[in-house]
Parts: sequence; C-alpha cells; structure tokens
Amino acid sequence: MIDTEALRTQPELTGENVVLTQLDESYFETGWEALREPESRRLTGTHTEFTPEQVRTWLAGRPGLDDRADYAIVRKTDRAHIGDLALTDIDKDNRSASFRIALNGPEFYGKGYGTEATGLLLGYAFDVVGLHRVSLEVFDYNPRARRAYEKAGFVREGLQRQALWWDGEWHDVITMAVLATDPRP
Ligand SMILES: CC(C)(COP(=O)(O)OP(=O)(O)OC[C@H]1O[C@@H](n2cnc3c(N)ncnc32)[C@H](O)[C@@H]1OP(=O)(O)O)[C@@H](O)C(=O)NCCC(=O)NCCS
Repeated sequence: MIDTEALRTQPELTGENVVLTQLDESYFETGWEALREPESRRLTGTHTEFTPEQVRTWLAGRPGLDDRADYAIVRKTDRAHIGDLALTDIDKDNRSASFRIALNGPEFYGKGYGTEATGLLLGYAFDVVGLHRVSLEVFDYNPRARRAYEKAGFVREGLQRQALWWDGEWHDVITMAVLATDPRP
C-alpha cells in the first residue's frame, strides 16, 4: 500500500541547501521564465510551446493531487525558486513512479542542488509514500544529469535508440531507475 494522503498533503522536505515545497500558482513568474530558457528546453527535450494561461492553470492544479507529487525547489538561504521536480505516473498496484527534474537555468547547474533535491525526493518517495521503484529517462547528450542521478542512487537499465528528435538529429534515450531496496547515498 502506498500512502496517498502523503501525496495529497506533500510535506515540506528540508535539506542542507535546498527545501522542497508544494508547487503551486505562486511560482508562475519564475516558472514561466524557466520554461522559455533555451538550455533547459534542450536538456529536457521540450518541444511544446505553452501559453501563460496553460502554465498558470497547470500550476494552480498541483496541490491536493494524490496520484503525483510536484515540488518547487527553493534555495534554503533566500527561498529563491531555483527549479522543480516531480513524481509522476504513480502506479499504486506496482508502487512505482516516474521522476523528472529541471533547475530554472544554467546559473543554477553544477552546484549540487539537483543531486540534493533528487535525494530528498527519493527519501520521501520510499520512506514516506512507500513506493518501491522510481524510474526516469535522460538524453544521451546530458551527462550532467546522468551523473547527478547516479550520485542520488539511480542505476542505468536500458537505452531507447533514436527516441528523441532534436535540432535535426536523432538521439538515444537512457532509462535509469532506483529501487527502495537499493543502496542510497
Ligand atoms: C540535471 C540537473 C537537475 C542536475 O542538477 P545539478 O545541480 O546541475 O547537478 P549537481 O551539481 O548536483 O551534479 C552534477 C554532476 O555532474 C557532473 N558533470 C557536470 N557536467 C558534466 C559532464 N559534461 N560530464 C560528466 N559529468 C558532468 C558534475 O561534476 C557533478 O558531479 P560530481 O559531483 O561528481 O563532480 C540540472 O543540471 C538541470 O536541471 N539541468 C537542466 C534540465 C535537465 O537536464 N533536466 C534533466 C532532464 S533528464
């Protein structure tokens, strides 16, 4: 059994340098900027062009859901919004979920925020929600993300050949996952 109440209420998760807190409409301004940031779009393979209204409505609908968890990543020192991460596609029977993360722009990359936020979310996923498996997809041209995921405990499981078309070329998509029983740093 997974704890759907823990998904619905999404407790704040505090680490050394970042805090994870419920994503909602109050993050629209910074979230909207981040969605337009070219390097983040490339690294997440985002083809879709969103309208401000779509984004506002989507953000407003995040709190209270019990089949996913969407968190904003805020810096602990000043509560600046520096990114988002989520558990999605929660399968209650198999206690599994998908994972995604994006920091808001290159100025936040490479400072340890992503690894720390991922570890915090995995702690919640396994120890609080009761999930057994969390998986993700990452593009072959994103070694920084792959390294951050490995540091947080994800293991490479497979490769989908030429699954992404980006900028006139095919790219492979790597799949990674971590189990509740795997060693966690
Ligand atoms: C992916 C992401 C969440 C990682 O978070 P981060 O805070 O930047 O990563 P960290 O600083 O915690 O760790 C990065 C690690 O990658 C390493 N790294 C950076 N560039 C690298 C490269 N080109 N090759 C190999 N390793 C690299 C760093 O050295 C560090 O590892 P180390 O601690 O062993 O030295 C963040 O970069 C991000 O949001 N990127 C844009 C969106 C994105 O890529 N999302 C994921 C889509 S699957």
